[in-house]
Amino acid sequence: MENNRGSWNSNIGFLLAAIGSAVGLGNIWGFPYKMGRSGGFTFLLVYIFLAVFVGLIIMASELALGRKTRKAPIAAYKAVSSKYSWLGWLAVISPFLIMTFYSVLGGYCIYYIIINIIGLFGGMPDGSSFGVMLTSIPASVGVLLAFMAICFIIVAGGVSGGIEKFNKVGMPALFVMLVIIIIRALTLPNAVEGLKFMFVPGYAVRGGFIEEAPSLITILGDAGGQMFFSLSLAMGAMITYGSYLSKEENLVKNSGIIVFADTLVALLAGIAVIPAAVANGINNGIPVSEISLGGPKLLFVTLQDVFHNMGALGGVFGIIFFLLVLLAAISSAISLMEVLSAHFIDKAAEEGREISRKSVVLKVSVVITIIGALVAADGLGSNGFAPVDLLKNEMAGWNDCWLDFFDCWSEGIMMPLGAMLMALMIGGEIGPKVMLDEIHNGEHSPFFSRFYRFCVIYIVPAVMCLVLAGQLTGFFGNQIVSYIISAVCFIIFTYHTLIPDWKKLGQEGNE
Ligand code: PFF
Repeated sequence: MENNRGSWNSNIGFLLAAIGSAVGLGNIWGFPYKMGRSGGFTFLLVYIFLAVFVGLIIMASELALGRKTRKAPIAAYKAVSSKYSWLGWLAVISPFLIMTFYSVLGGYCIYYIIINIIGLFGGMPDGSSFGVMLTSIPASVGVLLAFMAICFIIVAGGVSGGIEKFNKVGMPALFVMLVIIIIRALTLPNAVEGLKFMFVPGYAVRGGFIEEAPSLITILGDAGGQMFFSLSLAMGAMITYGSYLSKEENLVKNSGIIVFADTLVALLAGIAVIPAAVANGINNGIPVSEISLGGPKLLFVTLQDVFHNMGALGGVFGIIFFLLVLLAAISSAISLMEVLSAHFIDKAAEEGREISRKSVVLKVSVVITIIGALVAADGLGSNGFAPVDLLKNEMAGWNDCWLDFFDCWSEGIMMPLGAMLMALMIGGEIGPKVMLDEIHNGEHSPFFSRFYRFCVIYIVPAVMCLVLAGQLTGFFGNQIVSYIISAVCFIIFTYHTLIPDWKKLGQEGNE
């Protein structure tokens, strides 16, 4: 039954698909705006540290878990762990919740491509189009349907016939478009101020962009959450993609390439977006402190204003830019849909039932579209039925709109918790050696083995604890309570996992 699951045609096909999953709205939208909010250069340094010491480790572990078991997340965790077999559920529920709003944002890109095309014939749209779109329920739901239809066609085409094929064309195209936008952004007068904000230490405060630098702990939480989301970790995606990968491929090298490419695209997206936004603000007499770099407005309001002010060619750049964001959104969304579809396909195979991929993907798409329609119709809380309106009680960030509500559960809670527990499971229950055997598949690299053991046992759980606290603070507001909650989680799980296996771990270290 195993060959029913499909596999990648080539390692480069796998790499482009995995990079496609990683490169998404998180890079082009999330990275620049979190960098804008969290103090420019310091954020970048913390981000790179986390990508190497945490991201790379979890990436290699997820790919190895998938390839070792040849299963989608729920069955994969069941196969290797008795204490944490339930973790696979987190890695399936989170992608579902993410898809309910990711699909809506993907739809927004389609809307913006359309209005920029219309703008070519006169009346170039500006940032106020965002409000118009959010309050038009038929438009928001219509573009959601279009986005889901595209994703359905690709995922229904299969692992190599749909996902791999799409990424082989989509990723190089995305890169070319990104370079075009960067060239345009950097040739705007005053773009250098945006570059200084990104790369000169302390310039975010000295240049007047933000009043005071956020604390290191706040930056750690922000950068950690961003890094996980951006690398598609703790959502089952890399486990699922790894499960289609040949035993011959080198997982250390592959993980390194994916982390490097994703970080590079995030940086390039920052170089495209931040200088353009800053230059446009300065050129129109807006004080730098009032340029909206932080928050969801960055793409759909601030940048649309940039294209509006560019004159004759603004529409063309607008189309190229939103097409690039759309490609990034599709390549990520299809990986989330594949996690869900693979689960049902594997389950049917296990039970000896005949099942067609198309019908599974169709069902998955319909359920996502129904909940996505609620998020789309809510219009980021514009239309009167956000959780805050229903509860009649403002409760910090998580209940402003349905998008935040689903984001809080998935990205805010399940993702950091899932990654922390995965590290504890590897470091404490099953032991790093089992994972390293799969990662190296025969030829051991002593340096990577030592680095992996150290990070998975000490660094990853501790950092994830801080990231969880940072995410909880972001969504629920109260920093002290958030830190207490994540410390309690950490202590309970550490006690549950590490203490009973302490001896085993010591012996393994001496081998
Ligand atoms: N990495 C994607 C982004 O940066 O937008 C989002 C994502 C895709 C997260 C797939 C998780 C996932 F499994």
